[in-house]
Amino acid sequence: MTNDSKLWGGRFTADTDSFVEEFTASVGFDARLYAQDIAGSIAHANMLSQVGVLTVAERDDIVNALGSIRQEIEDGKFDWSVGLEDVHMNIEARLTQLIGETGKKLHTGRSRNDQVATDIRLYMCAAIDALTAQIDELLATLLNQAEQHKSTVMPGFTHLQTAQPITFGHHLLAWFEMLLRDRERLADCRKRTNHSPLGAAALAGTTFPIDRDQTARELGFAAICENSLDAVSDRDFAIEFCACASMTMLHFSRWCEELVLWSCQQFGFIELSDSYCTGSSIMPQKKNPDVPELIRGKYGRVAGHLFGLMSLMKSQPLAYNKDNQEDKEPLFDSIDTLRDCLTAMTGLLAEMTVNKATMAAAAEAGFATATDLADYLVVKGVAFRDAHECVGQAVAFAIEAKRSLSELTLTELQRFNQAIGEDVFAVLTLSGSVNARDHFGGTAPAQVAAAIARARHKLAEF
Ligand code: ARG
Repeated sequence: MTNDSKLWGGRFTADTDSFVEEFTASVGFDARLYAQDIAGSIAHANMLSQVGVLTVAERDDIVNALGSIRQEIEDGKFDWSVGLEDVHMNIEARLTQLIGETGKKLHTGRSRNDQVATDIRLYMCAAIDALTAQIDELLATLLNQAEQHKSTVMPGFTHLQTAQPITFGHHLLAWFEMLLRDRERLADCRKRTNHSPLGAAALAGTTFPIDRDQTARELGFAAICENSLDAVSDRDFAIEFCACASMTMLHFSRWCEELVLWSCQQFGFIELSDSYCTGSSIMPQKKNPDVPELIRGKYGRVAGHLFGLMSLMKSQPLAYNKDNQEDKEPLFDSIDTLRDCLTAMTGLLAEMTVNKATMAAAAEAGFATATDLADYLVVKGVAFRDAHECVGQAVAFAIEAKRSLSELTLTELQRFNQAIGEDVFAVLTLSGSVNARDHFGGTAPAQVAAAIARARHKLAEF
């Protein structure tokens, strides 16, 4: 494209090198901001006419033509040009093509610097709203599964060694808590994103009598960026979003690791739906948990974007620098990745089935009630450290005898401590063990039921 047809061609004598044209263009990835760009332009035109910079007729021409351009884009009829660099200049050039001289007045009192910052902030607020709706669906899915499994017993782990029996519902509610905090983090990030940079112009504001309140209000922003230099230059809100997204992906990587483990033959705790697994091209027996593996892997990509954006921002002098054009791909990819992972996670969890008997047998096999035996001895007057010691000896004996603690006879158990009586067998059962942890935040089915009720109440209030 020759510089005559560029919107900034005036001071140039030679045309842009064609490689440089491609190199500096962002339209390949910022075209997705078209709806926000048009909304921002309409708000700007409305405001300019309100303050007397545009006539009402000029404003109407601009606003109507921007509406048709949006339609062209949505119908796939818009001719995007790399020579016009970015979404902003593509749309503005088309505007002038459609309505002539009046189109050239739209950019009065504005710069692409405040324009792009406005577009991204608007785009992010909408993206956060959509992601939050998906999070709510996943939270509800977790509650439904937790409801189904409030009394399903499984081994709880520390160091991935069987620790104490827990209910599967309780485990799912741990995931629920993580995701609930992720939701709060996103809502908080949205508050700081929801400020209007429009009117900051290139960096110093403008000589025209603009009304920043009006544009902010029309665009639905809750506040206005206070400082024009900051408004056009900082992308901390995008970095913050990527931090939020990374945290959710980090949580998902943990859940997915568990889904992969639990669905393998050695654990056999759950079965993932066929529709969420794939086979092997060589081993006919394989059913691979590709979806959780991929989600686990995609954490790396989102966390990478967070570091990419922080590195992009680091050491940039005020105000806008072209470096910031590089903010979009990592941001958009983080949004898209999180969106897809939320969809996948919800489907995976809604459709997984649980092998209760295998879970219970695993809890039974791992001496998971050893702590209960120690606690029992404490109630009988033994100091906890002494109780710990003699239960350790009982476990060693049971391992040798290839039996569980509840399979030892009373006489055998009494060899380790005389305080043990017939009532010990009630505490050695899995259900006795989980039912005993009956306090706020504990694993007892009654507590899980109460936690689900509290959680449902929170969800209903969103
Ligand atoms: N495409 C640019 C970006 O994404 C828009 C702002 C360009 N501003 C400028 N002064 N060159 O950052």
